[in-house]
Amino acid sequence: MIVLFVGDIVGQPGRKILKERLRDMKRLYNADVCVANSENAAAGFGITASIASDLYSSGVDFITMGNHTFARADFLSTAPSDNRIVRPANVSPEWPGFDYAVFDAKEKGRLLIMNLLGRVGMDPCDSPYRCADSLLERYKKSLGTTMVLLDFHAEATSEKVAMGYYLDGRVSLVMGTHTHVQTADEKILERGTGHITDVGMTGALQSVLGMDVDASLRRLVECLPSRYQTASGPSMINAVVAELDPSTGKCVRIERIIQKETVEREL
Ligand SMILES: [Fe+2]
Ligand SMILES: [Fe+2]
Repeated sequence: MIVLFVGDIVGQPGRKILKERLRDMKRLYNADVCVANSENAAAGFGITASIASDLYSSGVDFITMGNHTFARADFLSTAPSDNRIVRPANVSPEWPGFDYAVFDAKEKGRLLIMNLLGRVGMDPCDSPYRCADSLLERYKKSLGTTMVLLDFHAEATSEKVAMGYYLDGRVSLVMGTHTHVQTADEKILERGTGHITDVGMTGALQSVLGMDVDASLRRLVECLPSRYQTASGPSMINAVVAELDPSTGKCVRIERIIQKETVEREL
């Protein structure tokens, strides 16, 4: 099974480039399924039902989330009705929505999709390690999934690297998200888990993690309040493509992808 995983989609620039390029990218890499972190898809914060359906029409098959899952309050009512959207599992039991999804590729096997939050430099949540254990225990066998993709949404590189080793041989892929800068450390670990510390982001190229540069500078340089807004202009797609062996659940190939639109520079 070939999985295309897209890094955090940030606002309209991220959605637009996916609309233009994702179908071709899926064809190019022969992807069976596309999973996209979309916690920033709605102007940088959260997701809505209409944005989710827009992403599906662009070729996204499943959506994972993160710390901004319920930034849009109306998503509280959407979450329980869309089982293609996976929200983090190690959170309050009151959170609506699904803590897993299954992609059934028939003869190419079944893929379990999970999403967990890190604890270093993030809002308090339950142990992602213990929660990963219990999700695998609860779902892996009962749903007949040999392959597992975890979107580990965390701030600290150490925590994201550690999760790879913790789950090595028990899941097919640990895809780090949240920090929006793609790391050049994709690899297959000793027992067959494909890992990258951060997939990166899909959004405006000239931006601070997808957000407007001037607004970010006002906050950081002048230490004055400034409303966060999505940057505009040319965009990029950050993603990872990985090939999984359905018989073993192991990752056999992993590759980083960066596709950029052209930036016009001042002479
Ligand atoms: Fe994000
Ligand atoms: Fe995040």
